Amino acid sequence: MTKGRATRVSGRFISFEGIDGAGKSTHLDAVAQRLRAGGATVVCTREPCGTPLAERVREIFLHESADVLTEVLLAFAARRDHLRAVIEPALAAGHTVLCDRFTDATFAYQGAGGGAPPAVLTQLEQWVQGDLQPDLTIWFDLPAALAAQRRAQDRAADRFEQRDLAFFERVRAGYAARMAAAPHRFARIDASVARDAVLQQIHAAMKARAW
Ligand code: TYD
Repeated sequence: MTKGRATRVSGRFISFEGIDGAGKSTHLDAVAQRLRAGGATVVCTREPCGTPLAERVREIFLHESADVLTEVLLAFAARRDHLRAVIEPALAAGHTVLCDRFTDATFAYQGAGGGAPPAVLTQLEQWVQGDLQPDLTIWFDLPAALAAQRRAQDRAADRFEQRDLAFFERVRAGYAARMAAAPHRFARIDASVARDAVLQQIHAAMKARAW
């Protein structure tokens, strides 16, 4: 089979991660504004999503009940399409890509949360994306109980958001493990504080990279 693209590209690839209710989507917009003000062309996208095929997978993924391996395969199938149709062309054109969730979400939710074997995830990651990884992953970290409170104020829960606190603590631990395996790629943000203080931490992480 054809493997994911293995060469480096010119644009920046930033992913946003965290358990549901961490506030990442709001901050993604703020980061996009900041980068655009600095002259960058910014492409905002999200997973599971980003192409017509991936949108249809998202519907299945969020609303149908399936075993965890099926979820993994759906997530990576959508990701493959999203990479080829949206992310890779944007990076090749020198654009900055901001992606609301990427492969770390599959390791955290289906792996740490749902018990999918790490070897399967690692193999699929290699097949689907080759050596492409985000240049920076902004991880919005906060206790599962606080995230649940925020979700309750905010919106109706989807299939994943209805899981219990123990599930979200496992997901959180999954993100921590991904960060431990690639510390240079991650910026851990304390998302339990007020919105402005969260934004300051993000700006500090970007400044540390001279962005
Ligand atoms: P998200 O886009 O954050 O939801 P919304 O913007 O609608 O609030 O993510 C949708 C859900 O999908 C979220 O609960 C996490 C889950 N998810 C996985 O379980 N595995 C994955 O690989 C991805 C990308 C998302």
